[in-house]
This record gives sequence, C-alpha cells and structure tokens, in this order.
Amino acid sequence: MQRKQRKTSSTKTSSEIGGSKSLIKIIKMAHPQWGSMIIGLFLSLIGVFANLLAPKYSGKLINLFMGKQGMDYQLISIVLALFIGGALISAVGSFLTSVAGEQLVKNLRLIVWKHLSILKVSYFDQTKSGEITSRLTNDTTQVKRLVANDLPNFVTNVLQMLGAIVLMFSTDWHLALWILLAAPVTLLLLLPVMKFSRKVGHATQDAMADFSGVAQETLAEMRLVKSSGAEDQIISTGDAAINRLFKFGRKEAIVDGIVGPMMSLVMMGLFVVILVVGALRIAGGQSTMGTLFSFLMYLFQIMPAFMVLGTFSTTYAKTQGSTQRLAEILNEDPEDFEKGKTIDVEGQTLQIKNVEFGYTSAEEILHNITIEAKPNTIVAFVGPSGGGKSTIFQLLERFYNPNSGDIQIGNQTVNNINLKNWRQQIGFVAQDSAIMAGTIRENLTYGLNEEYTDDQLWHVLQLAYADQFVKNMPNQLETQVGERGIMVSGGQRQRLAIARAFLRNPKILMLDEATASLDSESEAMVQKALEKLMQNRTTLVIAHRLATIVDADKIYFVEQGKITGSGSHNELLKNHPLYKEYVQEQLVTQ
Ligand SMILES: Nc1ncnc2c1ncn2[C@@H]1O[C@H](COP(=O)(O)OP(=O)(O)O)[C@@H](O)[C@H]1O
Ligand SMILES: [Mg+2]
Repeated sequence: MQRKQRKTSSTKTSSEIGGSKSLIKIIKMAHPQWGSMIIGLFLSLIGVFANLLAPKYSGKLINLFMGKQGMDYQLISIVLALFIGGALISAVGSFLTSVAGEQLVKNLRLIVWKHLSILKVSYFDQTKSGEITSRLTNDTTQVKRLVANDLPNFVTNVLQMLGAIVLMFSTDWHLALWILLAAPVTLLLLLPVMKFSRKVGHATQDAMADFSGVAQETLAEMRLVKSSGAEDQIISTGDAAINRLFKFGRKEAIVDGIVGPMMSLVMMGLFVVILVVGALRIAGGQSTMGTLFSFLMYLFQIMPAFMVLGTFSTTYAKTQGSTQRLAEILNEDPEDFEKGKTIDVEGQTLQIKNVEFGYTSAEEILHNITIEAKPNTIVAFVGPSGGGKSTIFQLLERFYNPNSGDIQIGNQTVNNINLKNWRQQIGFVAQDSAIMAGTIRENLTYGLNEEYTDDQLWHVLQLAYADQFVKNMPNQLETQVGERGIMVSGGQRQRLAIARAFLRNPKILMLDEATASLDSESEAMVQKALEKLMQNRTTLVIAHRLATIVDADKIYFVEQGKITGSGSHNELLKNHPLYKEYVQEQLVTQ
C-alpha cells in the first residue's frame, strides 16, 4: 500500500516533465486512422467556414428586409444552404473523427493487453489488479476522448473564434473592439478556475483508480470477508475511498457551478454592450441592423469556444497523466519468449547451484540454496512454513530470476533455454489449483495448442480419478465450471489439475502440498492419482505427509531460506534433530 502511494506521486511529477512525449508516443503507437481523422477534421473545418459565413449573409438578408426591398430568393437559399449544409458536413466530419477514435482506443487496448499478458510475475506482485483494469478502461478512453473529440473541437473552435473576430473587424471594427475587450476579462476570470479544475481532475483520477483497486480486491475475497465477519471493516474501507471521491467530486461541482454562471454573466454583459453600442451606431447611421444581428450570432459562436479553450488544458493534462501511466505499463520489462534454444530435458539432472534470492532488494529470502534432482527420482522438500519452499519452485518455473547462483539442467543454465519450451516441460500442481471459467475441456487443454480427442481427455481424467464425477456432470466434457458454472469441490479441482498435468505429460513435475487442503477421503484419491503421475518423471514435491517423504529418493530440509540438511529419510532422522522432531509430530498427528 505504502509502496503504491509512493509510486503514484512519482508518476505525477514525471508526467509534468515528459507528459507530452508519452502522449505523442502512445498515440503514434496506437496507429490511428490518420486518413479518416484528417478528412473528418477537414469536413469540420468546412463546417466552421459555413458557420462563419452564415451570420454575414443573414445580416445582409436582415438589411434587405429592413430596407423593404422585397425578397431575394437567392440570398435566402444561400443562408439556408450555409446553415443546413454546414450542420450536415460538421456531422459527417465528427462522425469520421469519432470512428477513428474508436479504432485508436481499440488498438491501444490490444497493445496494452498484449503487453500485460507477457509481463513478469513480479509486476503483478506490485500492482493491484484494479489499477491495471483502470488503465485498460479509463486511461485508454481518456486518450480516445482527446484525439477524437477534444482536439478536433479545440481546433475547430479556435478557428471559428479567429474567423469570427476577423469577420467582425472587417464589418464594423468599432463594434468588434468592444467584444475583443471582453476577451481578456473573461480569460482573467476563467484561468484560476481552470487551474483549480485541472488539479482536481488529476486527484479524481487517482482516487478513482484507488477505489476500483479496493473494490476489486475486496469483491474477489468475499468468502474471507464473510467467514471473518469483516463486513463492517470493508464497509469502512469502502466508505473512506468513496468519501475521498466525493470530496473531489464536490470540488468539481464547485468548478462546474462557477463556470456556468460566470460564462452566462460575461455573455449577458457582452450582449448588452453590443446591443447598446450597436443601437447607438445604428441611430448615428454608422452601422446597420444587419451588422448588429450578425454580431450577435458571432457572439453565440465565440462563447462556446471560450469554454473549449478553458477546458482543453484540463483534458490535455488529464490525458497526459493517462498516457504516462500507459507508458509505464508499456515500459515494464516483458518476459522474453523469443530467445533461447529449445531442448528436451528428459533424462537430464536438474540442479540449483548456490542460489540467493529475494522478492525485493530489501529482503533476501533464499540463501545459498544448492539442490540436485537426478532424472526420474523423487526429491522432497520439508520444513516449517514460510521457510522458502514454494519460492524455490517459483524460481524453477522462472517466474523470477535468482540474484546470484544458477539453475541448470544437464549442466547448462536454464536461462539459455527458451522460456516457453522450459515451462512446457514442467508440470505444476499447487495446493489449491485454480479453475478457469469455462468447460471441463477448456480447463484440461488450457494453454495447449493441439487438438485432443475425447478419448484422450477421458483417459487422463481416468488416470486422475476424475472420470466418475465428470461423467456425472450434465454436459460431461462440455460442462461449464467455475464462475457462472457448476461449482467444483477442492478435491475435484485437484484431480482436474492432475488430469491436466497428465495431458501435458511434463518431464519435470512439481507438487506444492497438493493434498494439504483436502479431507482424508479426497486426499487418498488425489494421492493415488499423484503416485501414478510421478512415474517416469523427475518429481519435486513439497510434502506435508510422511508417506510421501519416506518414499522420496532424497529429502531437503528447508528452514529460514537455507537448506539445513539433506539425505534419505533414515539419514536425516539420524543427523537432523529438527527433522526428527518434525517427523515425530507428523507421526503423532497422522
Ligand atoms: N510474492 C511474494 N512477494 C514477496 N514475498 C513473498 C512472496 N511470496 C512469498 N514471500 C515470502 O517469502 C518467504 C518464503 O515463503 P514461501 O516460499 O511461500 O515459504 P514456504 O513455501 O516454505 O511456506 C515468506 O517470508 C514469504 O512471506
Ligand atoms: Mg509454500
């Protein structure tokens, strides 16, 4: 939590330095459809042009009516064409830029998703999944909004404003000067509000990411919440996050509350000024009713431009924050699945040599670990909980890199082996095997590219003693399990995991207390399945049952990140007092 907060605040300072760079980089990366973007913008500009001409011709029309010179149907058609045509062309233009924006956000999400899927395990240790989701949804949407809406709006509005000013000056510069005088006053009023709104916008985004992180974390562990009676606690955590959001929301409300009336005040002021000055000039014969009319129309065109100018800096800054965060994800080192050779690890000795490792640089977890597993033997790891056994397995999976030392297979370092090729040859059954939402078939073949026949699947289910309960399921292999499907018990999940391992047919098998959380009936069944699975493979097993340990060819005793003894069961009984104590406890409890 602490670490995360530090991370967020450092993000903000760096976003102010390199924000525009990452913005441009991210937009380029997402390959926007420049073609439709440019055509869309071009059409919008034509729309602006029509908008600018409309008041001019309307003014002429008014003067015509005032002079009682009868109808000029050509002029009427021009005015109508400018109004209707301008609106239509603008609509097509903004449709094109919007579609290009959707395309952009799609590409961006694909890029980020693809990168996330190959990031290292350590990234997911450090980052809340809720925060990652918020990057994928909110931050990408923010980029789209800028590129597809705010930026084109900004360009068209600025041009509209400049065009209107030029046209007003060319028609009646006296009257135009009055409008121009109002501009600096408006900006002076708006700037501090906009600055405040920018700050609030940033803070709201952070608070929102925080809240979705908290929510996601909590909702994923509702059972723990219930069984611990922690409802009150999560209510107050949620309360705090929601109230923080409210605090910023209220500030945004203040900004919104101020900006609206302030703009109408300025608008009304200008309205009155133009009417009064205009009326005086008409009375003095220096101006016409048509000019006054067109000036009022221009005024309506300029005011929204002021708003867009004011809010643009806020959205721009928000988007910079978003792209900065997206760039942070994209800058994270992915795992390299390309490099390294493919080898067959069958019949090769697996060795861990003098490995030191810590999840963070602050704390070393494993100290000088040396282990050897001869082919087709069973190597067991025992020792107190928290000693580092599972960590050793994670290093073997190459989820993390050792700080020093080496892991070798047949005398070559595993770092030179292609990562995918290496992991394909390792089977892993954990204490609580995960099940994905999907069918039994999808769960068995998860991550495998080949097609499997039903017979093959039933065969591995049978080997894992899982065929009976799958047969009893309504749609058998096609039964939906997991979230929104049939619930599967712990023992059944373990047996499905074992069936999966049979299907993968790994050369190296790692079992991390695979029966620890089962009742004795399921345990016996899972144990039988595991014994079959262990045949003809190198098996590393973190064991909590004496039977497994006694059968092992070699045992390592792991405590506090060190190997404090190794050998056969009898050797350790003789030489390792803690092992003896450990075994006696196990014997008593079993
Ligand atoms: N992902 C992780 N990030 C940081 N520390 C971890 C992580 N996983 C485990 N640890 C720490 O590493 C130590 C060893 O844990 P572990 O290997 O799971 O022990 P064992 O499997 O022997 O019970 C523990 O102190 C644990 O808190
Ligand atoms: Mg463990």
